[in-house]
Amino acid sequence: MEFNGFVIRSYEDHNDEGQFSDKAQVLDLERRCEIGQSKRVFLFTDNLGDPICRIRNSPMYKMLVAECDKEVVGVIQGSIKAVFFTPHKPPPPGLVVKVGYVLGLRVAPPYRRRGVGAALVRRLEDWFVSNDVDYCCMAAEKDNHASLNLFINNLRYIKFRTGRILVNPVRNHPYNINSSEIKIQKLKIEDAEAIYKKHMASTELFPKDIKNILKNKLSLGTWMANFKQQHYPLRSSSSTTGGNEQSSWAIVSLWNSGEVFRLRLGKAPFAWVIYTKSLKIMDKILPCFKLVLVPNFFKPFGFYFVYGLHHEGPFSERLVGALCKFVHNMAMNNSKDHNCKAIVTEISGDEDDDLKMEIPHWKLLSCYEDFWCIKSLKSKKNNNNISNDHDHDDHILEWTNTPPIRTLFVDPREV
Ligand SMILES: CC(C)(COP(=O)(O)OP(=O)(O)OC[C@H]1O[C@@H](n2cnc3c(N)ncnc32)[C@H](O)[C@@H]1OP(=O)(O)O)[C@@H](O)C(=O)NCCC(=O)NCCS
Repeated sequence: MEFNGFVIRSYEDHNDEGQFSDKAQVLDLERRCEIGQSKRVFLFTDNLGDPICRIRNSPMYKMLVAECDKEVVGVIQGSIKAVFFTPHKPPPPGLVVKVGYVLGLRVAPPYRRRGVGAALVRRLEDWFVSNDVDYCCMAAEKDNHASLNLFINNLRYIKFRTGRILVNPVRNHPYNINSSEIKIQKLKIEDAEAIYKKHMASTELFPKDIKNILKNKLSLGTWMANFKQQHYPLRSSSSTTGGNEQSSWAIVSLWNSGEVFRLRLGKAPFAWVIYTKSLKIMDKILPCFKLVLVPNFFKPFGFYFVYGLHHEGPFSERLVGALCKFVHNMAMNNSKDHNCKAIVTEISGDEDDDLKMEIPHWKLLSCYEDFWCIKSLKSKKNNNNISNDHDHDDHILEWTNTPPIRTLFVDPREV
């Protein structure tokens, strides 16, 4: 189908390395497109030679390209998965809906403001509808005006939640964790799955196939922290789904995103560049001071993504802090193998500031307002004469009108 002189078609995923292959052109487009319009920093993605790498771990995925005179000028990726639906209530068995995620939208700078971005999203929505998807979602930083204008004003998405993306550089010294007070243990996959299903399944957009995420080779494990005086009974008589409701605990899982794609800093404030360079020089001159150094973010780097973060009980924010430090120390030890230079965590914007304060991060690299947007595909389905069993618009209203719950589940496959 042709729009304004450009054609939208499926990405051709074959091994042709030629200069005009889809693969070569999409990789080149990614290199030229910064993410967002942030005044603080620009990040570029490096797909390690595989443009489709970010969505390959999703149950269903698709990539489309926009082509103008045989040149690839735009790209978009989408994935589909089943999620538990009822907001704020434990999900009755079987109440599951399909959600499509819009990811990796890029338009080459000379072709912007010509309708390419909007056409790519609309064609991806058609693919969602043909696969019986009920809702589609996207996320963008608050200051990415181009993207938010496109989705909210032009394509009628609704902002429904705000996340805070916290980024912590992997330093050259470990954090201290008070091991006399806090116990951290690695969980078996089945225990982690049972705990997530019991405590997080009523979280919005919680994936039905949580076990597949936990079992994925990119998932490095799940850890739980308790205060030593109390514990969460993993295998007590009340089974793994039981739990001492009085005790404080926290849980996180870790995903090795750097195995799939790398990031690179394109621009950083001058003061930051000077600060990091002077630290390096001082460390060379005065190694005895053991200065805390930050990695060189101008070279492509990998990162670990903390997902499934949940905490309950008094002072449990401190347990989250201990887990984040533990994960940092692990990344520091593995950084040679994984080129892991940062830990990324996303928490709900409605979590109180205590949690944010406990999670070590650098403000300059972090984004405190990541807008999550959603759209019902009901009208598109009806236009296509596909029957529709749910009252989606009511649910959208329920989602947007109810106060947001504290916890977000961020699926690492959509990062
Ligand atoms: C965001 C992006 C994909 C938009 O692509 P595009 O092809 O220029 O978008 P369109 O031409 O289809 O724009 C449709 C509408 O979106 C809005 N829009 C797009 N770019 C805008 C901008 N720079 N400022 C304000 N509004 C903008 C406008 O409402 C526009 O309609 P109009 O041109 O009639 O005013 C493109 O700017 C881009 O690749 N940015 C860098 C990567 C990125 O941030 N991707 C999004 C990740 S979530």
